[in-house]
Amino acid sequence: MSRQIRLGLFLLGTGGHTSGWRVPGATDTQEDIGTIIRICQEAERGLLDLIFVGDNLNADPSTHPSYCARLEPVTMLSAVALATQNIGLGATASTTYGDPWSVARLFGSLDHISGGRAGWNAVTTSTPQAASNFGMQHPDHARRYEICNEFIQVARDLWDAWEDGAIIKDRAAGRYFDETKIHPIDHDGTFFKVKGPLNMSRCPQGRPLILQAGGSVPGQEIAARHADVVFSVTQSLEEAQAFYASLKGRLAKNGRSPESLAILPGVMPVVGRTEAEARAKLAELTSYIDQKTALTLLSERFNMDLSGYDLDGPLPDMGANDAYHAFANSMLSKARREHLTLRDLFNLVATARGHWVLCGSAEQIADTLQEWFETGAADGFNLMPGWLNGGLTDFIDLVIPILQDRGLYKTEYAPGTLREKLGMPT
Ligand SMILES: Cc1cc2nc3c(=O)[nH]c(=O)nc-3n(C[C@H](O)[C@H](O)[C@H](O)COP(=O)(O)O)c2cc1C
Repeated sequence: MSRQIRLGLFLLGTGGHTSGWRVPGATDTQEDIGTIIRICQEAERGLLDLIFVGDNLNADPSTHPSYCARLEPVTMLSAVALATQNIGLGATASTTYGDPWSVARLFGSLDHISGGRAGWNAVTTSTPQAASNFGMQHPDHARRYEICNEFIQVARDLWDAWEDGAIIKDRAAGRYFDETKIHPIDHDGTFFKVKGPLNMSRCPQGRPLILQAGGSVPGQEIAARHADVVFSVTQSLEEAQAFYASLKGRLAKNGRSPESLAILPGVMPVVGRTEAEARAKLAELTSYIDQKTALTLLSERFNMDLSGYDLDGPLPDMGANDAYHAFANSMLSKARREHLTLRDLFNLVATARGHWVLCGSAEQIADTLQEWFETGAADGFNLMPGWLNGGLTDFIDLVIPILQDRGLYKTEYAPGTLREKLGMPT
């Protein structure tokens, strides 16, 4: 079968836009499971490949509402698993604040509960504020990625510690397990000491899908070693192509093929029946921007307090920082290319939190996504609708049929586990 576009939904119950919840009729919570299930069922109606639930480990009421009041992602997706049949269920868990045994167990459980649809977004946690909730010092960028690498390896070893067929349930012989198929991992590394195995048999996918979203060089190195899907942050076709080539180029040394990892740039589509209709929707979203929320997010992305700067003055000295490399670099390159002011960056973050905004008619959006897909910039996209369900429904009803007509998008789910549907090796 020819290569087709993969689509994920970055699920923020209050919308991807910082003030999307203010759109009349939009969902306005990341805590009501009925609302979350309705969003996920809508995504499944659109045959999306997976839902992706982010997470953070601190509460700041001045940031995006879904970042501050949210359900724990794996718990939330366990409920979603029972109300959906096909869509992949990706949740975030930190490798800086947590331990591999518990995380492997959580995602193994989600995989069992969902019949093989679990994905783990392994993040290093960029926000230093998390440290105070764990009685820890926030490790620096390089250290966080060293920990992350070992953490993921331990989780993978734990998932592999049970062979298939280790549970035999031989009633006549009174033998429940075949103990020769259950192994300790005896990991004794730099950061973790884990004997194993998990108290759980091998999960349906063998290994839940591994998602990753760090764009720096150490982030890419880890993705090339471990990830099946990467969410990237980008503001232009050229930048996306460079990232795609850089990351895919790191796979061979890990014995992996280019097809074994899918790169999905984040995009906020604002779709209209005409370009004018789409522009009007974007203008409405912009009218809801809350200054404080946007400034907090902008400061977070650049890891510096920007509240005292004149939005219409010159750009302060900002750059890649200990929190975020890819976000900062991508926004600054755009600022340089297009001579943006701090206010422009502020509006960019307020709209899509630093991600790419694609506003236009359904045809225009389909054309652009096709171009990116066919010119080495993307294997698909991580959709971040500004508000829900409207922004998602527009995409499903207006853009997906065009992609399907062009043979670029599936018309039904493939059978099997998430890995099997995506054609990803275990
Ligand atoms: C699409 C996307 C989603 C992300 N989601 C989360 C998240 O839910 N929680 C989190 O702590 N970090 C999240 N991050 C941050 C990344 O995991 C990573 O730590 C950050 O982008 C810095 O990476 P870099 O310095 O390697 O570019 C996300 C990043 C991207 C691009």
